[in-house]
Amino acid sequence: MNFNFTEEQLAVRDAARDFAQQVLLPGVIERDRDAIYPTEEVKQMAEMGFLGMMVSPEYGGIGMDTISYVLAMEEISKVEAAAAVIMSVNNSLVCWGLEEYGTEAQKQKYLTQLATGEKIGAFCLSEPEAGSDATKQRTIAEDMGDYYLLNGTKNWITNGKTSGIHLVVAHTHPELKHKGINAFIVEADWEGVQIGAKEDKMGIRASDTTSIMYNNVKVPKENRIGADGFGFTFAMNTLNGGRIGIASQALGIAAGAYELAVKYSQEREAFGKPIAKHQAIAFKLAEMATDIQSARLLVHRAAWLKDQHLDYRMAGSMAKYFAAEIAMKHTTEAVQIHGGYGYVREYHVERLMRDAKITQIYEGTSEIQQIVMSRLIEKGQLY
Ligand code: CAA
Repeated sequence: MNFNFTEEQLAVRDAARDFAQQVLLPGVIERDRDAIYPTEEVKQMAEMGFLGMMVSPEYGGIGMDTISYVLAMEEISKVEAAAAVIMSVNNSLVCWGLEEYGTEAQKQKYLTQLATGEKIGAFCLSEPEAGSDATKQRTIAEDMGDYYLLNGTKNWITNGKTSGIHLVVAHTHPELKHKGINAFIVEADWEGVQIGAKEDKMGIRASDTTSIMYNNVKVPKENRIGADGFGFTFAMNTLNGGRIGIASQALGIAAGAYELAVKYSQEREAFGKPIAKHQAIAFKLAEMATDIQSARLLVHRAAWLKDQHLDYRMAGSMAKYFAAEIAMKHTTEAVQIHGGYGYVREYHVERLMRDAKITQIYEGTSEIQQIVMSRLIEKGQLY
């Protein structure tokens, strides 16, 4: 693993940092308070290539590596985690899955629109009764000869309202359990697709999370992804990369809160000196810095393994697990360091604390990451 970033990677990081500070920061408090989707900001992200970062230019992307992606994700998440999840789902779960497993025709038709941000993507796996236990899909796609007839409800879908293209996971042969699952490309404006109301969430409030109902939706045969029965493996393989994206989001949230806490504690005086000079605060900052840097190394290692086409399942789950845990812990500490100021919107850390919580839940809870890791350990992979 190379600890020196290339000039290109540094340029992407700096561009994301500038964008976050200049474009996202000014309206972030209002968008969070009123749960307003960052429409204009997402358009600008698309123009900068941030919605198709790892997609080959042949399909409208900017062809960067995973390291560049996590560097950009960290900078954006420091300021607006809600914008970062829109970016992460589009890049890691939708574009990556299609580029890796889609047919040439699917890529030409759909990936080109997703990578340029002309349309936003949604990854529709979770259901009211199939969250962590993803094999228990109730959504059914019945083979009707020329097409599949899709029926079912998906829950907690990021980009639910704003997406134009859905990757939907459904059972085609329930008797075959997870080997009877398929994934399909569904267009949001097809007859029978119904989008639920936007959830009123604790954090990442500007992003739109909805249920999606599919009522007798006709899905052309050519919109199935991969061979018959590939859907569960498709979802798992896609989530392995998605977890690196969410790990970088959690890292950014933690780093954002830490940097605000350092600044505040160097300015705020109590008992005759800046509070950063009191051990009670200084030791907290030292621990935060150590944990954040450890999470960063895990995230970069997972991204590097993916770029080398090496096995990154363990590394991705480890990075997501650790980064999410420390994000929750240290955003809470950042609020504590700010005292009463930390409890009000203006100082940003209360939002980061609320945003941190979701990173322990989506794309596999912390406990799911432990399951993924422990299964690999059982199989002999120690780290
Ligand atoms: N990578 C690749 N394949 C995997 C895998 C992984 N990480 N984990 C499991 N598999 C494969 C297994 O190898 C097995 O395949 P074979 O039968 O061919 O050998 C198959 O999947 C079933 O595995 P298990 O028997 O281990 O299945 P399980 O049901 O006991 O556990 C699980 C599977 C790991 C718990 C899985 O269900 C899981 O990851 N659940 C969490 C789902 C999740 O992350 N949901 C997030 C929703 S998406 C989201 O949040 C997006 C958003 O909008 C932000």
